Amino acid sequence: MKWKDRTVVITGSGSGIGRACALAFAKAGATVVVADRNLPAAQDTVARIKEGGGEGLAVYADVADPTSVAGLVETTIKAFGKIDTLVNNAAIQINKTVADTSFEEWNAQMAVNVGGVFLCSKLFLPYLRTSRGNIVNMSSVNGYFVEPSCAGYCATKAAIMGLTKAMAIDHGHEGIRVNCICPGYIDAGLAEGYFQSQANPAQARKDAGKLHALWRIGKAEEVAQVAIFLASEEASFVTGSAYVVDGGFGSGLPPK
Ligand SMILES: NC(=O)c1ccc[n+]([C@@H]2O[C@H](COP(=O)([O-])OP(=O)(O)OC[C@H]3O[C@@H](n4cnc5c(N)ncnc54)[C@H](O)[C@@H]3O)[C@@H](O)[C@H]2O)c1
Repeated sequence: MKWKDRTVVITGSGSGIGRACALAFAKAGATVVVADRNLPAAQDTVARIKEGGGEGLAVYADVADPTSVAGLVETTIKAFGKIDTLVNNAAIQINKTVADTSFEEWNAQMAVNVGGVFLCSKLFLPYLRTSRGNIVNMSSVNGYFVEPSCAGYCATKAAIMGLTKAMAIDHGHEGIRVNCICPGYIDAGLAEGYFQSQANPAQARKDAGKLHALWRIGKAEEVAQVAIFLASEEASFVTGSAYVVDGGFGSGLPPK
């Protein structure tokens, strides 16, 4: 139980990879703040944490809204007095080309995916300084391998990689480590949304598996294990890194 007495805040943990991270950190012994703009989903994650004997608190938070993020920080500090790890995981994915993306869609996606990382990191930083804590950001292989019809999303994931390195450089001397994870296709909400946007979702899912050397898409739990590693003392000299968890994502073409 080396995570006992540690507080971990995970955004977008009402489902998918965020939920898997919440369950894994709680199983390891941490107290988890499950933050999501879908409060019933966050409450469901906490119910699962409690079923497993862990500790968690569901908090409504919209990471794109400064007032809402300030409320998340206040609730966390009031309830637990500190934060040790922030996992910036919340994101949305608009499956369109630049030509088809409206200004509103562009701005909304930037505000959640990049603005959310900025806001949550900024407002939790004073407390991370005190705990000499760390941040794990959820980027994607789409930060460097792009795919058709998700231009804005790919841009946000590349921005998160840049922001991760920038924050690592700026705050390393304060004892704060900042890393990001670049998952390949993972069996969770955003990938499912992408499959559903294709003409033949079942075929799209099959084809996606074959883009990975392991010939399958990943599980959310496989990403969660890397998040725990990056947040732990085992990764004490790891900062500014982009950790690839992609089952050997290939050239973008399925093998013949
Ligand atoms: N699923 C994949 O294949 C995949 C691959 C690479 C990276 N990722 C990244 O992993 C993360 C999670 O993806 P997922 O597939 O588990 O998604 P998901 O849709 O299953 O979960 C995302 C969660 O974020 C919440 N959310 C959305 N906007 C929010 C906001 N403004 N404020 C607070 N919460 C908000 C949603 O309510 C939802 O619970 C994302 O950062 C995504 O880019 C996913």
